[in-house]
Amino acid sequence: MKKELKIPQIKDGTVIDHITPGNAVKVLRILRIPRGNSSVISVAINVKSHLGKKDIVKVENRELDPHEVDKIALIAPKATINIIRNYEVAEKHRVKLPNEITGIVTCSNPTCVSNANEPVKSRFRVINGDPPRIKCYYCEREPDDISERII
Ligand code: CTP
Ligand code: ZN
Repeated sequence: MKKELKIPQIKDGTVIDHITPGNAVKVLRILRIPRGNSSVISVAINVKSHLGKKDIVKVENRELDPHEVDKIALIAPKATINIIRNYEVAEKHRVKLPNEITGIVTCSNPTCVSNANEPVKSRFRVINGDPPRIKCYYCEREPDDISERII
C-alpha cells in the first residue's frame, strides 16, 4: 500500500486550518508570503477532512496580528487559527469577523467618498459571517468579490 504524504507537524508558529478549499493562495497573499517574510511555510490544498475538503497553511515561527486574522475571516470563514508552541496546540481560535471593518477592504464604488482623495478610511458593516457579506458604511455598495478588495 502507498504511504500517504502528510504535511509535517511544526514546532512553533501558526497553523491556519479549515480554510475554504482553494483559498490557501489568498491566505498566503494576505500574509504577504513569500515577500517580506523568511518563515518556513507549508501549504496543503484540497485535503480530505471529516467535513469534505479544506486547505491548510502552516507558518513557522510567526504569530498573526489581528488585522491579518480579520482578513482571513473574510475569505475563509470556517478557518481555525492554531498557535503552536513546542509542538503543542497552545491556543485554538475560530476566526470571527467583527461587526465593522475599517481600513482593510476598499469600496468597489469609484465615486464613494472613501475612494476620493479625502482622509476618509474605508468602513464596512458586516451583514453576514458565513458566507461573508459586507456593505459600505458610506454608499451601501456590496463588493462582488471581497477577496479582490482586500488591501
Ligand atoms: N499541528 C501542527 N503541528 C503541531 C500540532 C498541530 O501542524 N505541532 C496542526 C495539525 O496537523 C492540525 C492543526 O495543527 O492541522 C490543529 O491541530 P489539532 O488541534 O491537534 O487537530 P484537530 O483536533 O484535528 O483540530 P480541529 O479540531 O480544529 O479540526
Ligand atoms: Zn462605498
